[in-house]
Amino acid sequence: MPSPACYRTDMKQKPVILSGVKPTGDMHIGNYFGALRQFVELANAGEHEVFIMVADYHALNFIQDKEEMKRLTRELAMSYIAAGLDPKKVAIFKQSDIAAHTELAWIFDTITTIPYLERAHAYKDAEAKGRETSVGTFNYPMLMAADILLYDTALVPVGQDQKQHIEYARDTAEKFNRIFGETFRLPKEYIMEEVATVPGIDGQKMSKSYGNIIRMFAPKEELAERVMSIVTDSSGERPEHVYAMHKLIRDEKELAAFYEVHKGKYKALKEALIDDLDAFLGPMRVRYETLRKDPRKIDAILRDGAKRAQKAADRKMEEVRRAIGVR
Ligand code: ADP
Ligand code: TRP
Repeated sequence: MPSPACYRTDMKQKPVILSGVKPTGDMHIGNYFGALRQFVELANAGEHEVFIMVADYHALNFIQDKEEMKRLTRELAMSYIAAGLDPKKVAIFKQSDIAAHTELAWIFDTITTIPYLERAHAYKDAEAKGRETSVGTFNYPMLMAADILLYDTALVPVGQDQKQHIEYARDTAEKFNRIFGETFRLPKEYIMEEVATVPGIDGQKMSKSYGNIIRMFAPKEELAERVMSIVTDSSGERPEHVYAMHKLIRDEKELAAFYEVHKGKYKALKEALIDDLDAFLGPMRVRYETLRKDPRKIDAILRDGAKRAQKAADRKMEEVRRAIGVR
């Protein structure tokens, strides 16, 4: 007779992958190639248990309008699914649905020093802009550490710009373990080096804050207009930013040959990129448009994801509360 699941020793738990994106605006191909594509590939490989968040409490630093928050949250959840995440396999959930994230962030605050947080790039950038920085922006890495550590995460797929945040999570886990005893697993970042940073149409990092994006779900006319505005360096024969985008979706050998044949013909190269981008993004755009017609379905998916996340979070918080002596 098979033994009950709780006694089975052959049922090894799969290592956990967790990641998330802030619902702060239009998803662009930098987000897709830098982050979402990795989420999908890792989830489909089936070797991990996967949690993907809508980081709405992080976004609250930027989005302080309730209708906007609701709309962007749904749009991001739809983007995840349109990109290929299967909500049956992956827990897709809102950060704010799991109160333990903010609770654990508080606990981390108590073992973290101000000078340590002052060294965070995102905080330094915010300060450099000369605006008054919110406490939430200052504390951002501790909420992110909580997001990650709460699920015993092994791997965090993100773009290059998030690397420091994962280091903060790892440091925080180590510090907690040192003070209160072994509790947290040390997470690692997962960054695909060849797509580490996708350039925008002006050649800088593609980012919604620079106005240089190509939207993930843009119709073909918009793709064409954006690609045609990619800045090209007239001194070179190969337009580097066009090539950098093109190699995200085409085999490099084939591409190098194609660029060699069309040396200096920027218009033809851009037209090829438009067609390739459209062919690549088209099916995702169709899935996105279908999902948009049924917002209640998205809400149900997020609720279901939260249920699954809650279970894991509850388990870990029990351990944490015992470790610090409040239980
Ligand atoms: P943005 O810079 O447009 O505000 P976010 O900071 O919200 O984008 O990034 C969401 C996710 O997408 C993160 O994991 C980030 O690393 C990744 N990402 C954003 N822009 C790029 C890019 N240009 N190249 C690679 N990855 C990116
Ligand atoms: N800071 C990430 C970004 O700006 C979003 C994020 C929040 C995240 N919590 C996370 C990413 C936990 C990975 C893991 O893109």
